[in-house]
Amino acid sequence: MHSEWQPATHPPPLTPDAVHVWRIALEVSDSLLPRLRGILAEDERRRAERFYFENDRRHFVVARAAMRILLAGYLARHPEEVRFAYGNYGKPRLAEENNANDLRFNLSHSHGLALLAISRGREIGVDVERLRDMEQDGEPLAERFFSPREAAVLRSLPPQLRREAFFHCWTRKEAYIKAQGKGLSLPLDQFDVSLHPDEPAVLLATPHDPQEAQRWSLRGLSPGRGYVGALAVEGHSWWLWCGEWSMEGHGRTSLD
Ligand SMILES: CC(C)(COP(=O)(O)OP(=O)(O)OC[C@H]1O[C@@H](n2cnc3c(N)ncnc32)[C@H](O)[C@@H]1OP(=O)(O)O)[C@@H](O)C(=O)NCCC(=O)NCCS
Repeated sequence: MHSEWQPATHPPPLTPDAVHVWRIALEVSDSLLPRLRGILAEDERRRAERFYFENDRRHFVVARAAMRILLAGYLARHPEEVRFAYGNYGKPRLAEENNANDLRFNLSHSHGLALLAISRGREIGVDVERLRDMEQDGEPLAERFFSPREAAVLRSLPPQLRREAFFHCWTRKEAYIKAQGKGLSLPLDQFDVSLHPDEPAVLLATPHDPQEAQRWSLRGLSPGRGYVGALAVEGHSWWLWCGEWSMEGHGRTSLD
């Protein structure tokens, strides 16, 4: 489980055997927002306007702007110049005109916190969730979305470990689905991940294609108190660098 977040303003060099994850606080002062909105493309601004709740709109704008600023750092471009293309299920990638040199990324956000994962030449998916009480709906959700093996492991755990295990399972499954980029066309109950709090993150079985489980590595992330995260990366033998990026400065945030 990775939990060291290094405050940084520029990315270190990204080699094919490295993976970077940036933690981004989405709460910013009102005065910053117009500048951040100005970085977005027209279609992103239109999307921002469609959010019903002001907070969701702000968080979307900050996450998109941060994603542009950070990716621009890797591409040596201006944030406004970064161009995105979208897969069949909506996964954003860098458009060819960026000359991205095989740079891949994935974003996740939850309740004021975003994670941006970046790699070179490896598919990648990331997920962050805020830990919440699952006393009422934890078991029904697990029965509905988790595989029979995962649901059985969850049921076997003592109650005090169940919430953490539930969110390990959830974020690992989501990170894998997001790395694949095919949305829920790959049913969540059709593959197994580890979830016991004492076990490392592993994609255990992929019955739809048994080779698939060997092709991916999972990693648990500790993005801050009250949050759980996971990363899915194509291949093995990579090392992880985690950076903290803040719009308002470069110190630590209240997430620690
Ligand atoms: C589209 C999906 C990725 C949304 O995931 P989510 O957990 O709601 O949201 P996240 O914050 O983690 O990810 C959203 C970001 O992923 C990226 N994204 C969008 N479509 C994607 C796709 N098909 N694959 C990977 N990434 C995608 C975008 O950057 C998006 O950011 P944006 O909304 O600001 O544009 C999809 O996996 C989904 O709807 N999952 C269902 C959730 C569920 O039922 N989970 C059960 C858990 S066991």
